[in-house]
Amino acid sequence: MELTNNLKIFFPGKLVFANESLEQLAVEVHGLQPSKVFIATIVPLQNAIAGFITQLEEAGIEVRTDTSIVQEPTFSDFDKLMQTVQQFNPDVVIGIGGGSVLDIAKLVAAQLDNEQQLREYLGIGLLKGRKKKLICIPATSGTGSEASPNAILVDDADNQKKGIISPFLVPDIVYVDPLLTISVPPAITAATGIDALTHCMEAYTNKFAQPFIDMMAYEGMRLIAAHIETAVKQGDNVEAREKVAMGSLLGGFCLGPVNTAGVHALSYPLGSMFHLAHGLSNALLLPYVMEYNIPSATKKYAEVALALGCERQADDTATAAAGVGRIKSIIKACGIPLTLKEVNVPEDAIPQMAADAMKVQRLLRNNPREISERDAIAIYKAAMG
Ligand SMILES: NC(=O)c1ccc[n+]([C@@H]2O[C@H](COP(=O)([O-])OP(=O)(O)OC[C@H]3O[C@@H](n4cnc5c(N)ncnc54)[C@H](O)[C@@H]3O)[C@@H](O)[C@H]2O)c1
Ligand SMILES: [Zn+2]
Repeated sequence: MELTNNLKIFFPGKLVFANESLEQLAVEVHGLQPSKVFIATIVPLQNAIAGFITQLEEAGIEVRTDTSIVQEPTFSDFDKLMQTVQQFNPDVVIGIGGGSVLDIAKLVAAQLDNEQQLREYLGIGLLKGRKKKLICIPATSGTGSEASPNAILVDDADNQKKGIISPFLVPDIVYVDPLLTISVPPAITAATGIDALTHCMEAYTNKFAQPFIDMMAYEGMRLIAAHIETAVKQGDNVEAREKVAMGSLLGGFCLGPVNTAGVHALSYPLGSMFHLAHGLSNALLLPYVMEYNIPSATKKYAEVALALGCERQADDTATAAAGVGRIKSIIKACGIPLTLKEVNVPEDAIPQMAADAMKVQRLLRNNPREISERDAIAIYKAAMG
């Protein structure tokens, strides 16, 4: 008897997905009747959100904006930001940016008026609550952080990426306006898009895969695979941006109930040791983890190949292999390096990377095929090129 894996999912309180939806956000915020609003965002979006801020201010709301978080935030970035936000004491926290900004906004909202300290709620389910309203607006298609209960920070003490996972980190309100992603440069569009695709694929092939989530994962893979190349090469193509944004959102829903697996676990050391962006680290490993996993989840990977747009081959093994070929050609067409060598990761770093990857058991346990330290070494070697 094969039983269905358990399902537990926390949805955002309200979700809006529409081009130009940013224009309705001020009315939405006003409806919460705040006197002070804190906005975490990034410099490249300042023009795009200037009108929104003016609308809030004209409604008598005090607004404070911060653009200090650029990429892959650390514990100390968070601590520094909290000192100023705590003094301001907003009623509503808004994140408008990529995953780095959204994760920070989620944690800022959770930390305000909280007696717990960040280090006390690292890990799964330890955060006891959140007192401030939280609104997330993604500007990359990407992490899906807007729909997930996760936030990721780099611990300055040991340079490891640490996750905080809690239903209280799921936002109250989410606005996805794909037009915000038009300013994302091609290389970041490519890497973040592959990240989103990986969220879907790692959920679909997960040891704890779930039919409810499979539906979103499959459609997310299909949309991203079909449109990512256009989004990278014609950044102002609204249709491509919209489809990839939907794929990314679907990927976000995969993260809470099922989550990622081997690709993400093995990519963390690339982020912490070589400061490679999250999406790029995943892209560099994705084809090689797929190849490693196929023998243990052949049918699922054959279905992945179909979602990616491949024809069905003579059998599942051949179809699954075609999927790996398709991923490699998508990665290449998007201008992402295909090997660790190309991004100057030295071969002698492999033992340390493998040892560090073994610490990410919360994700490794999800992988359809067990990955030992020795297996991780073999995967990194294959990815070297
Ligand atoms: N919470 C989650 O569920 C989750 C899931 C996956 C990854 N993450 C985390 O998210 C972070 C990565 O987020 P990301 O991949 O979205 O990238 P990012 O937020 O780090 O942004 C990457 C770069 O793109 C720029 N950028 C972002 N949006 C832009 C726009 N609209 N126009 C122009 N430039 C723009 C940023 O300023 C930055 O320089 C990592 O810290 C990762 O660990 C979180
Ligand atoms: Zn990811």
